[in-house]
Formats: sequence, structure tokens, C-alpha cells
Amino acid sequence: MSDIALAVIGGTGLYKLAELHDVESHEPETRFGRASGPIRIGTLAGHRVAFLARHGEGHSLPPHLVNYRANLAALQAVGATRVLALNTVGGITERFGPRVLACPDQVIDYTWGRISTICEGDATGVAASEVLHVDFGEPYTPSLRTAVLAAAQASGVPLVDGGCYGATQGPRLETRAEIARMRRDGCDLVGMTGMPEAGLARELGLDYACLAIVANWAAGAGPQVDEVITLQDVLDNVAAASAHLPALLGALLDRMSDASR
Ligand code: HPA
Repeated sequence: MSDIALAVIGGTGLYKLAELHDVESHEPETRFGRASGPIRIGTLAGHRVAFLARHGEGHSLPPHLVNYRANLAALQAVGATRVLALNTVGGITERFGPRVLACPDQVIDYTWGRISTICEGDATGVAASEVLHVDFGEPYTPSLRTAVLAAAQASGVPLVDGGCYGATQGPRLETRAEIARMRRDGCDLVGMTGMPEAGLARELGLDYACLAIVANWAAGAGPQVDEVITLQDVLDNVAAASAHLPALLGALLDRMSDASR
């Protein structure tokens, strides 16, 4: 099963990859428990791809209850070494309006109470003497980010290079004051699932990059300051922006197999 070129984690509005064919399902039990749902392994553009819906295929898990550790460990168990995380987000700064695709390069973690390390809990397989202090100055794997950006260019898909992802606890959306503070902190994007996932991927030794899909202006950030964010707008914008995914993923997979030859 180690022929998997890429694992993709789908976020809100992205519960399957329609282009995946010859699909088999796996439900590995991990030392952290069960993943959000089955891992679908199939062929996309001639390459083996694993897909997992972060919130479950019926979106039954809110961001603070996702078992991020089990999701990543399950992908690792089926042989994945590289993960492209699709994260639905709100846009805070000018370049990140609805329907924009972005590949952020920094993170600020505002989440709380989530298990955010593999060095915690029983049966994690990490001895007390092995507490991990992984480097996280570059939270996303530079070589995978570079491949995603090059794939976007090769396939003509507009993609913003960089940006800081602020991870909030959710599941409620933020207040305007919270978003104003996040802007002052340097955040360009706001989402609820970017952490602890990115940090755990680093601890587990997985290559990991984020493809952020902007679904809405964050509270107070758009041209109409008092605009109400609706789930329907979020889903419509994610669906529209996701139309670029097959081309982007196809080009990315071609680059991955070129790089590993
Ligand atoms: N805030 C947090 N998470 C989100 C948003 C938002 O505005 N939109 C989509 N995910």
C-alpha cells in the first residue's frame, strides 16, 4: 500500500474526491483510536491517492471533536507520507476574498483544549524520555508547498502564495473584534481545523501542506462590515473554488511522481 503518492484531507464542503476511481476503503485502527471515517484509496490522474473527510463523510464531527491524531496516523498506516490538507477558511486581508485558493506559509494557533501532540495520553507509543520538541518555524513542508505552487502555475489555477492561517476553536464563527485582533496579529485567513493538524503531522514525520479555500469574508473583514455569514454562501463558494481541484491535483501528482523517479 506504500505506493500512495498523496493523501488528501477534505474539509467542510469536501467530503469526497469525485475524480477518484477504482476505490477501496480502509478503516485502520490506530494507537490514537479511529479516524473520522473510512480512508478511500483510489486512482486519480493515474496515481494512487488516499482521501479522508476530516469531519466524516456526513460532516458529523465539529472541528474541536475531530481526532486529528487518529486521522493522520490512519493515513500513515495505509502508507501515505505526504498530506495535502484542504481547509475551508474565512478571508481577513485584501488578497483573500471568497473563492480564492491559497497556500499559506504560517500559522497562529488560537485553539484550546484539543489534544495537540502525540506525546500525550496512554498507549501513544511515545516514551516519557522521548518528548518531542519538533522544529515548527516553517509549519508547512517547504518542498510540498513548492510543488503545490508549481502545480498551480502549470495548470493555470490561480493560487495565492503565502499568508498566515489563524486557527480558532469554533464551532461558532468569530466576532468582528476577534477578527480585528487576528488582523493585528498578522493573520490573513481564519479557520477551525488547521491546528493541531499541522503540528501533529510534523511530529509524525509527515510532509504536510495546506490548500486553503476561502469561503467567505471573516466577520467584519469584507466590504460590507455587518454582512451575515451563511452556511449556504460558505458551501456555494467552496463548490465554486473546488472546480479547480482536479486540474491542480493532477498537475501536483505528475510533479510528485517526477520528483520520486
Ligand atoms: N471563520 C472560521 N472558520 C471558517 C470561516 C470563518 O469565517 N469560514 C470558513 N471556515
